[in-house]
Amino acid sequence: MEVVIVPDAEAGGELIAEAMAALLRRKPGAVLGVATGSTPLPVYRALEAKVRAGEAGVTRARIAQLDEYVGLPAEHPESYRSVLRREVLEPLGISADAFLGPDGTTTDVPAACAAYEAALTAAGGVDLQLLGIGTDGHIGFNEPCSSLASRTRIKTLTEQTRVDNARFFDDISQVPHHVITQGIGTILEARHLVLLATGEGKADAVAATVEGPVAAVCPASALQLHAHATVVVDEAAASKL
Ligand code: GLP
Repeated sequence: MEVVIVPDAEAGGELIAEAMAALLRRKPGAVLGVATGSTPLPVYRALEAKVRAGEAGVTRARIAQLDEYVGLPAEHPESYRSVLRREVLEPLGISADAFLGPDGTTTDVPAACAAYEAALTAAGGVDLQLLGIGTDGHIGFNEPCSSLASRTRIKTLTEQTRVDNARFFDDISQVPHHVITQGIGTILEARHLVLLATGEGKADAVAATVEGPVAAVCPASALQLHAHATVVVDEAAASKL
C-alpha cells in the first residue's frame, strides 16, 4: 500500500485527477469507479478542468457506482445516482448510457445486486476505483464487520453512518436504513484502488486502515490485501499515523 500525504484536499484532488487522466490517455475506454460523499468532490472538479483543457478524453469512458440507498426514488436529489449525475456525469459531459450502477428502486434487491455484478464483469471490471472512508472505517457502505470476501448486496446502515449522512437530508428520519453496496471482495477486484481521506475526523479510521491489522472491524483495512492500493491523505487525516 502506498500512502501519499498531501497538504490539503485540493492537492489530493489534483493528484488523483491526474492519475485518472493518465489512465484515460492510456485506456480511453477505462471504467472509473466513483464514490459519493464530500471528500471526492475536489477530484471531480480537478478532472473536469483537465477534460476541459483537453488533457483527458472521456468520450469512451464508463463510470461505475460504488453504492446506493435502497428505496429513494431515482430522481431524489440525494440518491447516489442523482448525486453522481450532478457531480460527475453532467460536468464531465458523460452520457447516462456510460453509467453503471445498482438499481436502488428495485423491489428485488438480490436480483439487482446480481445484475450489477454481471454488468461490472461485462464491462471488463473497474480500472480505477476511487474510495472515501467513513468515520467508522467503512468503504462503499460496507459497515464494520462486513465480510472481506463480500459481493454486492444489501446492508443496513449503522446509526453512526446515518448520523454522518444526515447533513444531506432535511433530518435524520429521512436517511434510508438500507443500501446496496459493492462488497469488499467486489471492490478488491478493481485494478487500482485509490482512497482519499481529508480532515481530522478521518484520522482514526486512516490509522486503522494503514497501520492496524487487516480486520473486518475496519473494512478499509482490506486495502492492505490489494497489490495496487494508494491512500491519499491530507495532513489532518494523517495526524494519527
Ligand atoms: C458515505 C459513502 C462512502 C463515503 C462516506 C464518507 O457513507 N457511502 O462511499 O466514503 O460517505 O463521506 P464523506 O466523504 O462525506 O465523509
